[in-house]
Amino acid sequence: MRAVFISTHDDPAAWKAAMASVLPELELDIWPAVSEPEAIEVALVWKPPPGVLAQFTQLRLICGLGQGVDFLFDDPALPKNVPITRLVDPDLIAQMSEYVCAATLWHHRRFEDYRAFQRAAEWWPLAPPKTSGCRVGILGLGSIGQDIAQKLAYLGFPVQGWSRSPKNLSGIDCFAGDEQLADFLAGCNVVVCVLPLTATTRGILNRQNLACLPPGALVINVARGGHVVEDDLLAALDVDILRARYWMFSGRNRCHRHTLSGTILVVMTPHIAGLTRPETAARQIADNIRRLLQGQPLCNQVEQQRQY
Ligand code: GLV
Repeated sequence: MRAVFISTHDDPAAWKAAMASVLPELELDIWPAVSEPEAIEVALVWKPPPGVLAQFTQLRLICGLGQGVDFLFDDPALPKNVPITRLVDPDLIAQMSEYVCAATLWHHRRFEDYRAFQRAAEWWPLAPPKTSGCRVGILGLGSIGQDIAQKLAYLGFPVQGWSRSPKNLSGIDCFAGDEQLADFLAGCNVVVCVLPLTATTRGILNRQNLACLPPGALVINVARGGHVVEDDLLAALDVDILRARYWMFSGRNRCHRHTLSGTILVVMTPHIAGLTRPETAARQIADNIRRLLQGQPLCNQVEQQRQY
């Protein structure tokens, strides 16, 4: 079987080696060096330029190289009726949870204040924070959201979650649907966004929803930039609704001006909350290619209607 790897963000040599170790019989071309596009049956993709997938007329499977596959639905020429799979990778999930726990604890233990103290050569203790009084809300209760919820609950934070459809998770207060979103947000001292980006979640961190958060809330967005209405977030920071640090993964964002002005309201990192490692992800892709060949149901197949 012949496949194509399309990503300008990942190291093709690492992927070629990882796929060869788990599925040696797979011939993997690296786009754009594809001599026979009509021989390609599987595409391994991360943010392919729009229109590129349509060149492969015999595609039988599209494997997204991340947990999120929103980028595929931005392509108006995305081949119809070709199954799409995404990764649900314990290694990536663990990275995401580490990032969120680190951000939450940094905020909760007031490390930013102590850094300011250090700069001023001051060494006063602040009142010890009560973990039981810092409620963390997770927007999105899929595999990532559930892992984060469990790890924060283990640390002693009261945890609640919100999802589009109702969920029942032990030890987590679950909210669901638009009608429970305001109540959910009102109880979040920290809110973590790990939602998939779809037509229904785009812009969910907007003026109206941010205004539901209690004063001083911390927003941690480790999902997509498209979840945030930037102007609304900046307005909330300006009027001190949040009085908060806002962490996000994507560096190119106008919120940057707040870090530059020294207000420490915004902490940003590049897109590193969870990165796909070829050596762990390749096994899942190989498994799905074998399933395709044997006519078995695929794992982690994307529902094209819901776009995740
Ligand atoms: C990363 O952003 C992913 O979707 O895996």
